[in-house]
Amino acid sequence: MLRLALSGGSGRMGKAIQDLIKEEFSETIVLIGSVERLVQATEVTALCSQVDVMVDFSAPSQISPLAAACAEGGCALVTGTTGIDTEGQQALLAASQKIPILHEPNFSLGIQIVAHLIAQAAILLGETVDIEILEKHHRYKADAPSGTALFLGEALARATNTSLQEKAEWPRLPYREDPRAPGTLRFSCQRGGTVVGTHRIDFFAPDEVLTIEHQAQDRRIFARGALQAALWIRARPPKAYKLADMLADRGL
Ligand SMILES: NC(=O)c1ccc[n+]([C@@H]2O[C@H](COP(=O)([O-])OP(=O)(O)OC[C@H]3O[C@@H](n4cnc5c(N)ncnc54)[C@H](OP(=O)(O)O)[C@@H]3O)[C@@H](O)[C@H]2O)c1
Repeated sequence: MLRLALSGGSGRMGKAIQDLIKEEFSETIVLIGSVERLVQATEVTALCSQVDVMVDFSAPSQISPLAAACAEGGCALVTGTTGIDTEGQQALLAASQKIPILHEPNFSLGIQIVAHLIAQAAILLGETVDIEILEKHHRYKADAPSGTALFLGEALARATNTSLQEKAEWPRLPYREDPRAPGTLRFSCQRGGTVVGTHRIDFFAPDEVLTIEHQAQDRRIFARGALQAALWIRARPPKAYKLADMLADRGL
C-alpha cells in the first residue's frame, strides 16, 4: 500500500483526489493525512516522515516550505500547482537532490499527446506559421496564461529550436496596427463559469488553418494522472521528473 498525504486537500483538486482514491485506488493507496493552511512547519515535516508520497495541488506560496518539509521528512513530492515563481522552482530543484519530485502543470494523458502533435505540426508547417493558444478556465483560476498553455508554448518553441521568451509575442496593448512578426506565438485567456480547462491551438498558414483542441471534462483526469505518478515515483531515485518520464517508462 502506498502511504499518501495531500496538500490542498480542501480544494477542488484535493476533493477530486480523495474521491478517486476511494473509487479507483482503494487497494493500492491509503490517505494518511493532509496539510492545511497555517499548519506549523514541524507538523508538516512529521507528516512527511510518515508517508511515501506527498501530492500537492495548492498555491505557489506553499511550494517552497512544502518541498523543504518533504526533503526533510524523506517523502517523494508530486505537485500539480501552477504559477510557481523562480524561488519556488529553485526550491523544487534543491529538494530534488534529496527526494524524487514530479512537477507537472497538467496530469492528463490527452495534453501530453497534444504536446507531441503540435510539435510535429510546428515542424511540418514551418517556422513562419502564426500560432495562437487560447485557454479557457473556471472563474476562480488565479494564474494566466495557464501552466498548461505555457507548457504547450514551450513544446512549440523547442520544436522550432527557440525559447518561449523569443517565440511568444505577449499582448499588444494598446492596440498596434503594424502586422505581427511572422512565426510568433500568442496566448489568450478566458475565465468564467465552471470550465475545467480547454486548450485550443490554431496554426494560421497561408490559406489554411489547422486547429487542435483538448477539453478537460472532469478533474478526475488530473487526479488519476497524479495518483498514477505517485505510485510510479515511490521507487525512483532522487531527481526532478516529468510525467513524460513515467509515460516513457511504460513505453508510451
Ligand atoms: N497539474 C494539473 O493537472 C492541475 C489540474 C488542476 C489544477 N491545477 C492547479 O492546482 C492548484 C490548485 O487548484 P484547485 O482548483 O484545486 O484550487 P483551489 O480549489 O483554490 O484549492 C487550493 C487549495 O490549496 C490550499 N491553499 C492555498 N494556499 C495555501 C497555502 N499558502 N498553504 C496551504 N494551503 C493552501 C487551499 O486551502 P484553503 O481552502 O484554506 O484556501 C485549498 O485547499 C492550482 O495551482 C491549479 O492551477 C493543476
